Amino acid sequence: MPTKLAAGNWKMNGIAANLAEAEALATALPAPGCEVLICPPATLIDRLSTVLAGSPIATGGQDCHAAAKGAHTGDTSAVMLKDAGATYVILGHSERRTDHDETDADVAAKSEAAWAEDLIAVICVGETEAERDAGDALSVVATQLAGSIPEAATAANTVIAYEPVWAIGTGRVPTTEQIAEVHNDMRRILSDRFGAEGAEMSLLYGGSVKAGNAAEIFGVTNVDGALVGGASLKAADFQPIVEALAAS
Ligand code: 13P
Repeated sequence: MPTKLAAGNWKMNGIAANLAEAEALATALPAPGCEVLICPPATLIDRLSTVLAGSPIATGGQDCHAAAKGAHTGDTSAVMLKDAGATYVILGHSERRTDHDETDADVAAKSEAAWAEDLIAVICVGETEAERDAGDALSVVATQLAGSIPEAATAANTVIAYEPVWAIGTGRVPTTEQIAEVHNDMRRILSDRFGAEGAEMSLLYGGSVKAGNAAEIFGVTNVDGALVGGASLKAADFQPIVEALAAS
């Protein structure tokens, strides 16, 4: 069975005062019943991992550079994320693909860099609304999977997150049929390419996941968890999502 993972992506939100939310979550869920991950902004990774030490909640980055070090002003390497206490890193989020023109090849190179430091890569894919309207959702996701995941991917070093761009931060969620269609296709593609490793890889859904829709989404075949944005910022919002996953 793929590992169940509830992952929070704080995006560019959070200062030191917000660490209390992660602490509250760790206190409320001493044995969550699934993997739990919080990916704060880079400035908080070190402090968050310290706050969460000894708890079952992991800390992750939101991006890394493909190089280990060098003249790349403003960037953060996988070496640095690991040094700060991260064990996961989100890669190829649609906001980075849009804001920073990241390509599938960039995401693949970053994944290799993450694995070199034993970080688990959470590789994100997902179609825009225009692509879905054109009937291209499955082919867009297939192309992103083919280009963004390096050959050495395993169920232990890689998690895939399907995040339709039009569902991120909008309150619009695909139907369970639409989620199932994409997730079943991703499973087929990953199993064809990676065999047993592809069959075991965790597949997360992301985009407007809330306490009120989490259980329904976790009931969809081949959904092994969620990548949660806004609803991961407050312990009171994220806790019921984690509990819904553990109960699924
Ligand atoms: P929201 O949960 O805020 O829609 O964000 C989803 C997302 O982009 C997580 O990476």
